[in-house]
Amino acid sequence: MGSGKVASRGTVSPVAFSRRTGWDRRPNPLAERLEALRRTGVPLVDLTESNPTRCELEYPKQLLDALAAPEAMAYEPDPRGLLTAREAICRHLAGQGAQVEPDQVLITASSSEAYAFLFKLLCDPGDEVLLPSPSYPLFDFLTGLESVQPRPYVLSFEGRWRLHASLLAEAAGPRSRAVLSVSPGNPTGSFLHRAELAELAALCAERGWALIVDEVFADYGFGEDPERVGSVAGLELPALTFSLGGLSKSACLPQLKLSWLVASGPKEQVGEAMDRLEVVADTYLSVATPVQHALPGLFSRTAGVREQLKARIAENRALLEKARPPGASWSVQESEGGWYAVLRIPAEPGEEKVCLALLDRGVVVHPGFFYDFPRGAHLVVSLIPPPAAFARGASLLAGVLSGPVPG
Ligand SMILES: Cc1ncc(COP(=O)(O)O)c(C=O)c1O
Repeated sequence: MGSGKVASRGTVSPVAFSRRTGWDRRPNPLAERLEALRRTGVPLVDLTESNPTRCELEYPKQLLDALAAPEAMAYEPDPRGLLTAREAICRHLAGQGAQVEPDQVLITASSSEAYAFLFKLLCDPGDEVLLPSPSYPLFDFLTGLESVQPRPYVLSFEGRWRLHASLLAEAAGPRSRAVLSVSPGNPTGSFLHRAELAELAALCAERGWALIVDEVFADYGFGEDPERVGSVAGLELPALTFSLGGLSKSACLPQLKLSWLVASGPKEQVGEAMDRLEVVADTYLSVATPVQHALPGLFSRTAGVREQLKARIAENRALLEKARPPGASWSVQESEGGWYAVLRIPAEPGEEKVCLALLDRGVVVHPGFFYDFPRGAHLVVSLIPPPAAFARGASLLAGVLSGPVPG
């Protein structure tokens, strides 16, 4: 065995890392306080928990036995994903009212990877993607890592968070190549409605932009509303459109690493996009074979988990609303679906101070600025933690929000 040391033969120049990985990685004051609290071992109620495997859901026994199917011993990759798996995705989407064919589907290891593939397909370095604001903070990383510029467009709160094509057009620049929409939104919980989609798709077609609709939470709508778009997959839209989904939310199985994208819209563009994406996917072949073989069974066997989680989300939302005293200066915003609740709070003393005061009482929530909410007056909580813990957190939250928060 060697010593592990190799003698240097001269000067050592440090490598120059890429600018796009030059993030400011210092923890913010909230992360610092949270870390310090965790080190002391004090019990915390984490109302930011978004990992379903940590939320005491009941999964069917031996659910993952399907990963050991004998056919998974053969490695015969299809860059688009195994046909049987793509057919299973089509059946799952049919449950959301979408009619799509397997050749419109491409399987990826995660929705994040689907974004990376789409940005490679649609953008050259320096091109721009229009992103909703407020929205999911990972988009800045997903674009940055592909050398794509994020260009935010604002959603406006009108009882729900609405997308106005006119605001989108104002936000666009000459290098805009695609528009991203999240339906229902994380964390806004607003679905795209039919009228919004019609305007949006017309604008995209006119400008030559692709439309990407993130539907990872589409299985978690509250109630029924014919105005909501369940899925854009398979719709005859004038623009090239991609919809994204995955097992991490649809089956509460983020650890299995399987997601999909579906291309719809003008036939020729769909064909060209899928052929190019096939080469992108073939370069990585990142989706494991066992999970693709298991997929058809996983959808049906996890239907009960989805239902459990839907009931829990409704229960936790009701607990949160019940914890709010009449006439309180804060409120729970209306939502149409998804895993989160957005709280509107007074502008003073500010989201960060409120979050720090909550941490001191043992409750972890996200400040609105994490998602670029306007006016510094929002908090975000996850609705998927077990109800007993959630009720404790909601009551502590209501106590802090109703009392004086140190300025
Ligand atoms: C809106 C949205 N899109 C995509 C993802 C990423 O999903 P995946 O785990 O499939 O990468 C998340 C994860 O929370 C999300 O909230």
